[in-house]
Parts: sequence; C-alpha cells; structure tokens
Amino acid sequence: MADDLRIDPWSSQQSTDYARIRDEFGLGTMEGLEIPNPSMLHRRGIVFAQRDLEVVLDAARRKDPFGVLTGLMPSGRMHLGHSMVIEQVKWFQSQGADVTIAVADLEAHATRGMSLEKCRENALKEYVWNYAALGLDPERTSIYFQSSRPIVQRLGFTLGKRTNLSEMESIYGFRGDTNLAHVQAPMVQAGDILHPQLDQYGGLRPIVVPVGVDQDPHIRLTRDLAARTNWFNVKPRKAGGLSIGLSVQDENSAKLGVGERGRIDRDVRGTIFDSIHSALEPLGFADVLSNPKHGLIELPGATLRDRGPVRMALLALERNLGGMGMLPPSSTYHRFAIGMTGDKMSSSRPETTIFLDDDISVMEKKVKRAFSGGQPTVEEHRRLGGDCDKDVAFQYLLTFFETDDAALEEIRRAYTSGEMLAGEIKKICIDRATEWLGDIAEKRSAFEDRIDDFLAPDAL
Ligand code: TRP
Repeated sequence: MADDLRIDPWSSQQSTDYARIRDEFGLGTMEGLEIPNPSMLHRRGIVFAQRDLEVVLDAARRKDPFGVLTGLMPSGRMHLGHSMVIEQVKWFQSQGADVTIAVADLEAHATRGMSLEKCRENALKEYVWNYAALGLDPERTSIYFQSSRPIVQRLGFTLGKRTNLSEMESIYGFRGDTNLAHVQAPMVQAGDILHPQLDQYGGLRPIVVPVGVDQDPHIRLTRDLAARTNWFNVKPRKAGGLSIGLSVQDENSAKLGVGERGRIDRDVRGTIFDSIHSALEPLGFADVLSNPKHGLIELPGATLRDRGPVRMALLALERNLGGMGMLPPSSTYHRFAIGMTGDKMSSSRPETTIFLDDDISVMEKKVKRAFSGGQPTVEEHRRLGGDCDKDVAFQYLLTFFETDDAALEEIRRAYTSGEMLAGEIKKICIDRATEWLGDIAEKRSAFEDRIDDFLAPDAL
C-alpha cells in the first residue's frame, strides 16, 4: 500500500509528486480554464493546480471586484523561490485584483521562536523591499502585520469554535506536546485569508490565495471553516439545476425560523423564504420551487455556472440577516523550483538557491557549481544530449530568467540535441540572471525611501 501522504507546512521536506498530491487532496487542474494574458508561470505549467479558480476568473472577466491575499514568513532571506508567489500576485493585480499581504509575524514567533521586533525588521528589509522591486503596484497593495491587526486574530479565535483538536491533529499531526501558539497559527492564517471579505477591508468578494502546495492544509482548513459558517448551502441538484438548503446552527436558528425543541416557526420561515426569493429575483430564474417546511429551495433551470452568482446573492443576504457571509477562498498552487544542488531549495543552505540580493559574483559561483543535466564527457554529450528536466541552469531559465518562450525553446532544443554544452547553458543562465538581479537591485534602490507606500496604515 502507498504510504500516507501528509503535507506538513512547517517541514522543509516536501513531496514533489504533484500528480499524486493533486489527486489525493482533490485539487483541480488548470485544464479548460481560460487564463487571459497568461504569465510565464502559467504558460510553462509551473502553476499546476487550483481550487475554485473559475470564481475569480469569472469576477475578473465581469470586471467585478476581487482580491488576492498572500502571506510571508518574515524569517530568513528572500530567495528566488519566494518570488514565485509575487509573480502570481502581480498577474492577479494586472487582472484587476486588490492585493493584501500578511506578514506572518505571529506564526514566525510561534514556529520559529523569533521576537516580533526582529520579525518586523526582517520583513521590511528582506521581503517588502524586494516585493516593491519586483513590481507590485503600491497604489493597490496593502501589507500588514498579523500582530497589529486585531480583527484577524479575533476572526481566528472565533472560527476556532468551528473546529477541534482532533481535526487539527489529523490535518497537521499536532500532538500533546505541541505548543499552543503553534496550534493557534493556522487559525490566525484562516483569519488572514478571510478578513479581506469583511466590510471594512473591501467587503464580500472572491479572494484568491496563490501558494506553494505545502500551504494547502491551511487552505483546506480555511475553506471548511468558512463553509461551516454559511447559512445557505448551494449544491448541484440530483435531477439537474441547483438546490439551496438552510444550514441551521445555534447562532442562526431563531432567525431561520427554528424555535424551541426544533419546532418550525412558520411566520419567520415564511419571511426568510421571501427574502431568499427577492435575493434570487435579479438572477431571473423561471422556476423557483420552495419547500419552507424542509428549508429547501430548488432551481431546476439553473446551470453550474449559476452557482457562483447564487452563492454571492445568498452570502449578501446572510450578511443582512446578521451572519458572516464568507465565501470560501480560491487558491492556486505552484511547483517548487529545484534547489541548485539538485535537491530542495532552502534558505538555511545558501548554496541551494539565489537570494534576491546576492552579488553577481556569488550567483555566478552558485550557477557554475549547480547540478548539471549534461553528460560526463563532451563526446557523450554530443551523442546523447543534455537532460533539461534535471539541469539547474535550464530549470532556472524556465522558471525565472528567460521570459521569451521562443528563446527558451531554442535553448531546450539545442541542449537536448547535444549541440549546446553544459558550460554553455550555464553561461546563458549566468547572463540572464545577471540582468535579472541587476534590474532588481536597481529597483530596490529606487524604492529605498518608499517602502512605507506598500504598508497598511496599521503597519506604519
Ligand atoms: N504560512 C505561510 C508560510 O509559511 C505564511 C502565511 C501566513 C500565509 N498567512 C498567510 C500564506 C495567508 C498565505 C496566506 O509561508
């Protein structure tokens, strides 16, 4: 039997069996999704999976508001691997998204033992500054600290009522000796992800979270927590169309017309059903079948495409009635870039990656020593060709440095056929990386005094 596949967001050991991860955790593929003006990471299959991404793409298409949220661990130095999320954030921003970024200082404190002061200093110097240099738009980017946004912590705390220790144990492998700040960290992250939907942070709208696949446990938890707060469940109906069921909970039972000992209060239930009808009316369904007693509404003529608009209408209604009205977040997942030594990239082993402020000479040394997909001798290389899948220089051109698809394909062809030698592909990688790092360094100096432009008022 295959061994258990658990994703541990705090381990540096990550499975890279992406197909298996996708199947086992129920991630959607990118197939059939229409990605407008796809970025390099989309075109090259590096973004390989998603959850509910069509909700966000639909909003973008209709020019409806939507947001992107991500978070950073303010420990260590920023390296190339970290830049992949920012590339995606930039792409969503170009499609109209507002951008919120959490500095996970509480998480770093809980799981890495860093002081909050140190977290702040490092976040600004290493991450925010480089994010600015990578080209986020300061007008539509708002970076905050977990520790100074009480609403995020409050949301994390109150959502705690919707889960329990057994669930946290089975998702994260927590045990009796796990410290409680660590147990709390995923709850705060759920608060991060959901709070942009609160009225004072932009209101009800789709939010997408681009992450490495190691973060999927947090996404799953957050989606489940959000869904558990929902008052109305919208599901595909067996006989076709959609069905809407009431989700009666302690908090909402009186408002949904459930009285003492589970008795249905017909008047209250009738009023609720009237409001559901009015909420759905603008969507123009010809048939709306109501069963107030069973708390069920059916839309036989609806299609799966209507699910989004129906959900949004009902979440808005839920808010009017006093509920949270939270839409489960969407997400996208990218593959991890390989480390330069051929195994994992890790900030604690500088030889495995390039840092955004590495000197050119340091980068050059790393590329020269990087794992090669070339053959041991020139004669063999000419005969057998190089292996682009394993070659770090090629992989870094693919993931980071060569933005021109045609140029990349020409490199692939030449290297695979043996025409281009390992030393030559490294030379190309060094040239491209030199330009890339030079550009970032220049932009970093330009933003030196303007880092504050990216910070939310509560982060100043
Ligand atoms: N846990 C994330 C990490 O380890 C950081 C993070 C905190 C985050 N809050 C977030 C990521 C919200 C995405 C969304 O890097």
